Amino acid sequence: MRRKITVLPGDGIGKEVTRGAIEILEAVAERYGHEFEFQYGEIGGTAIDNSGTPLPDETIELCKSSDAVLLGAVGGPKWDNQPSHLRPERGLLAIRKQLNLYANLRPISYFSSLAESSPLRKEIIEEVDFVIVRELTGGLYFGKPSERTTHEGKEAVVDTLFYQKDEIKRIIELAFELASKRKKRVTSVDKANVLESSRLWRETAEEVAAHYPEVELEHMLVDNAAMQLIRNPRQFDVMVTENMFGDILSDEASVLTGSLGMLPSASLSTEGPNLFEPIHGSAPDIAGKNIANPIAMILSAASMLRLSFGLEEEAEAVEKAVKDTLDSGARTGDIAGGQTSTLTTKEMIAEIKGAILDQAAIS
Ligand code: NAD
Ligand code: IPM
Ligand code: MN
Repeated sequence: MRRKITVLPGDGIGKEVTRGAIEILEAVAERYGHEFEFQYGEIGGTAIDNSGTPLPDETIELCKSSDAVLLGAVGGPKWDNQPSHLRPERGLLAIRKQLNLYANLRPISYFSSLAESSPLRKEIIEEVDFVIVRELTGGLYFGKPSERTTHEGKEAVVDTLFYQKDEIKRIIELAFELASKRKKRVTSVDKANVLESSRLWRETAEEVAAHYPEVELEHMLVDNAAMQLIRNPRQFDVMVTENMFGDILSDEASVLTGSLGMLPSASLSTEGPNLFEPIHGSAPDIAGKNIANPIAMILSAASMLRLSFGLEEEAEAVEKAVKDTLDSGARTGDIAGGQTSTLTTKEMIAEIKGAILDQAAIS
């Protein structure tokens, strides 16, 4: 199979972990006889420095001319005091909007060998396996107005949580489709006791649920959901929620897996290429030190193989290589648990790559 992949490394550890995903994809190409052509683009702070904008037009053109997009992470202290249109994060929001990446899937999967890496007890995190479906192109992140203003002559500010009903419907439908192929349980997370937008969200979830009699729907208020994630995470199968709620809950959920550095994501488009990125950021505190965990990025690449290219066997091979590598005791610092000897980013990438090629030698 021939496929063109746009790679947007971004900033900070985004660059370090993206290199890992490329190496792994090259190993997959070698083992399975595929041709992956990589084309590189700029986004975020790096793009601001080189082109004066966080999302140059050429980057969008590159993405649209490819079969899938891999993105590292954007942001960093260097750009934190820029006006809002010149912030790296604006580039990320703009690419999501321009590629119509309305659905962000964030799977939370337990790796048994990482039981000691989480601050939570093994009995709580064991066998956790659910997906957060985060609405990605609407809600509080995109509503207008979003600006500084004045009110009765005094300084004020407004952000807007806006949704069209169809935007709510399509993300909830996707969650039900997903749940119907899994454990048949949807938890719709909202703040319907306060927000009108959540009341429409809840109503819409009920309407969609009527078409999926085999799937159980539960509503949960977001503050309770934040608590339930830590108290009893095994109750969840598919959790669907508004853009900002999903952002916050997924970082929290990453603790169940041992580290933020373990969580991949897939952003699905209404048309055109999908985008795959870890849920973590550019991690300025560890950037440039070759110690970031590349697994979230590598699992995002596996997800690309499965969801954009239909390469199920190849995706499973990457996931198995990650599992085998962790089972062998290989750890980056963030998942070290009590272990004193840890690997660098590059060493971890090499271990996982080796595991993929070893599988080929055995089979
Ligand atoms: P962050 O996700 O970058 O880091 C949070 C903490 O997790 C840090 O201590 C970091 O060292 C650790 N961490 C994150 N990824 C890791 C990995 N792969 N391996 C080991 N440790 C890892 O969040 P932050 O510090 O709040 O934000 C830093 C910058 O990243 C900000 O500019 C923010 O806007 C941006 N950001 C970007 C994205 C993205 O591009 N998708 C996501 C989140 C944050
Ligand atoms: C994420 C990030 C982004 C978000 C930021 C950097 C805009 O936190 O991808 O989770 O909030 O969506
Ligand atoms: Mn986030």
